[in-house]
Amino acid sequence: MAKVTDLAGIKQIIKPLEESGTLVRRTDDELLKAIDSFAVMEREGQIIACAALFPFFKEKCGEVACIAVSPECRGQGQGDKLLDFIEKKASSLRLDRLFLLTTRTADWFVRRGFTECSIDMIPDERRKKINLSRKSKYYVKKLVADGSGITADRAFK
Ligand SMILES: CC(C)(COP(=O)(O)OP(=O)(O)OC[C@H]1O[C@@H](n2cnc3c(N)ncnc32)[C@H](O)[C@@H]1OP(=O)(O)O)[C@@H](O)C(=O)NCCC(=O)NCCS
Repeated sequence: MAKVTDLAGIKQIIKPLEESGTLVRRTDDELLKAIDSFAVMEREGQIIACAALFPFFKEKCGEVACIAVSPECRGQGQGDKLLDFIEKKASSLRLDRLFLLTTRTADWFVRRGFTECSIDMIPDERRKKINLSRKSKYYVKKLVADGSGITADRAFK
C-alpha cells in the first residue's frame, strides 16, 4: 500500500496520463487524501505502477481507479498483478464487485473479466460526482471467494 512519500512517484506515472485525458486530473491535495487507497509496485526503489481501490461498503462494491504502469514497464504483466492485488484486497474487505469508469482502456478490462454496465450500477454517492462530459463507459466485475483463496469470476450476472 502507498505511503505519503510515494506521492512523487505516483504523480510521475499518472501526470502524463492526465495530460492525455486518459485519467481524470487530481490535485496533490486529492491524491494525498486518497493515498491510503493506493497500491504501488516498485522496482529498484522506483515506483513503476499504481492503482487505487475506493470502497463503498454500503453497496458492497469498490471502484478501481488510476491503474497505470510506467510506459517502459508495460506489457510485462504488471497491470495484471496489480489488478489481481486490488481484487484480493476488495474481497478481503468483503466487497462483492468492482466497478470502474474508462474512456480508452475498456478492452484491457474486458479481457480481465469486466463487462459493460449501466450507470445505475454505480453507487449514488459516486454517480453524483461523475463528469458526464468525459463520456466514460462503466464496467463491473463480480468477485467470488472460493475455498482455496479469493478468486474473481469472469462474468458479472
Ligand atoms: C492498461 C495498463 C495498466 C496495462 O498494464 P500492463 O502492465 O501493460 O498490462 P499487462 O502486461 O498485464 O497486459 C498487457 C496486455 O494488455 C494490452 N493492452 C495494453 N493497453 C491496452 C489498452 N488500452 N486496451 C487494450 N489492451 C491493452 C497489451 O497489448 C498486452 O496484450 P498482450 O498480453 O496480448 O500482449 C497500462 O497499459 C497503462 O498504464 N495504460 C495507461 C493507463 C490506463 O489506460 N489506465 C486505465 C485507466 S481506466
